[in-house]
Amino acid sequence: MAKIQTKNKDAPLRHLAIIMDGNGRWAKAKGWPRLRGHQEGANRVIEIAQACKKLNIPYLSLFAFSTENWQRPAGEVNGLFKLLNEFVQKYLKTLHEDQVRLVISGQLEALPTLTQTLLKDAINATASYQRYTLNICVNYGGQDEIVRAAKKAMHAIQNGVIHEVDLTSKTFHQFLDSAVLPPIDCMVRTSGELRISNFMLYQLAYAELIFVSLYWPDFKEESLFKVLKQYAERKRRFGQV
Ligand code: IPE
Ligand code: IPE
Ligand code: MG
Repeated sequence: MAKIQTKNKDAPLRHLAIIMDGNGRWAKAKGWPRLRGHQEGANRVIEIAQACKKLNIPYLSLFAFSTENWQRPAGEVNGLFKLLNEFVQKYLKTLHEDQVRLVISGQLEALPTLTQTLLKDAINATASYQRYTLNICVNYGGQDEIVRAAKKAMHAIQNGVIHEVDLTSKTFHQFLDSAVLPPIDCMVRTSGELRISNFMLYQLAYAELIFVSLYWPDFKEESLFKVLKQYAERKRRFGQV
């Protein structure tokens, strides 16, 4: 399939990022517990990742759990990590078959031990794949990522690894969790909410934003195609005329 470009024929879409929102409302509308929505949402993750591969989109970032989501009831939080464990166990084979490198943004240390082990093993096992990267944002906050990156940059300066004059908005990128990913070209949020909710604040600088009213469990391959048609109608300018 041809690469996806915007109207002014800029570089092809490399990095798609999605705020997967609306699982709870999807379930509620059907009279089901919220966790059933998360379960159905997890099924969409692999479908959309595989659709991106078909579409030649090499980098996909997905917001799975925010630094603010800890404030939810313990049952929901535990259920979400159980689902994440199951997801990694179920789809590691698929990641290998599709040659997808898994990376995680966010602080792993605060996660349940089993989740940490499963994620670290999957990251190591897929580290050599270069064509496709799936970045799952877990215990992730854009502000938290920037503050941690600033501390890493400060230590690098103190240890003489980088000179202060060489620290720019370009070189700062290497200290972010998502250092291996290019800037986001297109950001999609499902569920109708019109906000960023602390997602990839640094990487979103010139991203095209697309908001859809579908709840995440209803966001299928066809919905992604529609979104990308909208993207292809945009004209990106990056501050130029
Ligand atoms: C997104 O769905 C998944 C997570 C934030 C973990 P929500 O759980 O936020 O669902 P709504 O927005 O309450 O419907
Ligand atoms: C954003 O959704 C976080 C994830 C999708 C993981 P939220 O449901 O947590 O965001 P708000 O609270 O509606 O802003
Ligand atoms: Mg939500």
